[in-house]
Amino acid sequence: MSSRIAVVPGSFDPPTLGHLDVIRRAAALYDELHVLVVHNPDKAAMLPIAQRLTLLEESIAQAGVAGNIIVGSWSMGLLVDYARDVNAGVLVKGIRSQIDVSYESPMAIVNKHLADIETVFLLTDPAHAMVSSSLVRQVAALGGDVSAFVPTVVAEFLDTGARDI
Ligand code: PNS
Repeated sequence: MSSRIAVVPGSFDPPTLGHLDVIRRAAALYDELHVLVVHNPDKAAMLPIAQRLTLLEESIAQAGVAGNIIVGSWSMGLLVDYARDVNAGVLVKGIRSQIDVSYESPMAIVNKHLADIETVFLLTDPAHAMVSSSLVRQVAALGGDVSAFVPTVVAEFLDTGARDI
């Protein structure tokens, strides 16, 4: 596996400014970066995977992030199977707090065991440390303004398009 190809996996339900910050920084560290929408069986989803994919593509395009990013989705099995398929040697995750370390560490250890793949943690920019998709979902569902927490395309979608879902 190549350590010059990395994967940023996540639910992205919806993508947030915190996600975009991690994606931008990871894209600068690796030759090729796969940003992957993955179904998390432990979470009740708000948006269908296809919608998250569209929002992620539009957010990345809008942010003008480097051209080495491939956006995709994966629901065919283990995350490490995707990583192996694209010859990625690294998974990149954002860390906001000790809670994230506790949540991510077991997955990093299991993924290392399953496929000898490393997980690299990037500390979230403090400006986004309080932003989470679950809080965005809750605020948006109750009619609040989430525009400070998500890319413009996501805020617009949650304001209008999400009513049809
Ligand atoms: O954004 P999230 O919900 O924290 O992302 C978690 C995700 C989707 C990356 C994780 O649940 C995952 O990797 N799911 C894929 C299934 C898998 O490979 N499970 C074993 C990992 S230990």
